[in-house]
Amino acid sequence: MKRDFLNLTDLSRQEILDLIKRTATLKKERSENIPHPVLQGKSLGMIFRKNSTRTRISFEVGMFELGGHALYLTDEQLQLKRGETIEDSARVLSRYLHGIMIRNDDFEEARLLAEHADIPIINGLTDKNHPVQVLCDLFTLQEKLGRVENFCIAYVGDGNNMTYSWMEAASLFDFQLNIATPPECTTPGTKDFSHLKNVSFFTSADDAVKGADVIYADVWVSMGMEAEQDKKMQLLQPFQINQKLLDQANPGALVMHCLPAHRGDEITGDVLDGPQSVVFDQAENRLHAQKALLEMLLS
Ligand code: CP
Ligand code: NVA
Repeated sequence: MKRDFLNLTDLSRQEILDLIKRTATLKKERSENIPHPVLQGKSLGMIFRKNSTRTRISFEVGMFELGGHALYLTDEQLQLKRGETIEDSARVLSRYLHGIMIRNDDFEEARLLAEHADIPIINGLTDKNHPVQVLCDLFTLQEKLGRVENFCIAYVGDGNNMTYSWMEAASLFDFQLNIATPPECTTPGTKDFSHLKNVSFFTSADDAVKGADVIYADVWVSMGMEAEQDKKMQLLQPFQINQKLLDQANPGALVMHCLPAHRGDEITGDVLDGPQSVVFDQAENRLHAQKALLEMLLS
């Protein structure tokens, strides 16, 4: 029976803990030049209908390091752009590939791909959520804090796909999630998690970061939201992560950002490059944690 990874909650808490453990092993083996060709002969199709630096490169290199192969497939190359349906694409690609990662602007399209494909489908970011990012971030938290529960994380900025996936994580793990957004920029799908006792919503960044062990940032204007750029840039000014805000969190609080960063907008350069920032380790961990996920789903 194939497994998809469209939502973080498609995995159980225990499966994620197992992946975190496996990630540590894969990361260590890589640092010691120990090969781990567990996906020899396997091919991953990577459908990108939006831009990417980290997701594309970490999945591609990850497949290579697991002994498999990755194909970078864009709208310009696929017949999808010329009207072939996602259902037919799913049926055809299932005959060639062992898994597909898709990044698009429509979660429903990713869901349909999964429904009609015989192979695992991985959500590499949709308008709704970005589960691989948070899966990898949980590994980074395990590395930096030594735990993935019993801490407080403040997500500050635009309510978007990243925010939704953090809410997914809070439904699986016992940590406090404070979400600070302007009232006009709340997260779509928030009601899905309104029953959770460990998610709190704020309209003040200062209030949200009090008692936080981690502050998390994302861009103010997500891909596909460019029409709202001017409005968001104005509304989100009080939600910038800067030294003054960081000083109100717990001493030594970690700063995380899924990247790409817009220095001077959602986060200042001094905080991004400062001693509390773990953003570049976080970016590196995309490679290691996704390799564990690929091994789980494709082998
Ligand atoms: N964080 C992230 O998914 O980065 P990319 O958009 O570069 O893939
Ligand atoms: N919210 C951002 C995340 C980028 C990794 C976007 O969707 O563009």
